[in-house]
Amino acid sequence: MKSRIVPAILVGVFSMGIGSAFGDSHGMSAMKLAEKKKCTACHTVTESDPMAVAPSFMSIAQRYSMEESDRLVQVVLTGGEGHWGNVEMPDMGVRKDVTPKEAEKLVQWILDMDE
Ligand code: HEC
Repeated sequence: MKSRIVPAILVGVFSMGIGSAFGDSHGMSAMKLAEKKKCTACHTVTESDPMAVAPSFMSIAQRYSMEESDRLVQVVLTGGEGHWGNVEMPDMGVRKDVTPKEAEKLVQWILDMDE
């Protein structure tokens, strides 16, 4: 009896570990999208690198609530300036194009970091 229970527990613990590391497929793919769209060329995700030109996504999440997601989607689409310092987030054309859907996904992902 015992010898059957132990492997079952091990399997359970193992899959929980996998779950926490890779379970958030939404987060994973948004991260990939952010890399593909070169957001991460200017933004860091968590730690604020003093050399980075743009605020980290984590500090953006801490500063804004979900209510502001619409405005942030606009920033991702058309750029913005004056919220974090004197550096401007350029308009598309200068950076990689994102669709409104992708912009929404990225903003949701960013704002979710603070939850
Ligand atoms: C060329 C550098 C650069 C790239 C590439 C870039 N950003 Fe930014 N981003 C900035 C800067 C600089 C700011 C700060 C602007 C400000 O002070 O309002 C910013 C601000 C933001 C903000 C906060 C806006 C606000 O009003 O506070 C969000 C959200 C954001 N970026 C998302 C993204 C996403 C998503 C991408 C990829 C599609 C991206 N950025 C690509 C430079 C960049």
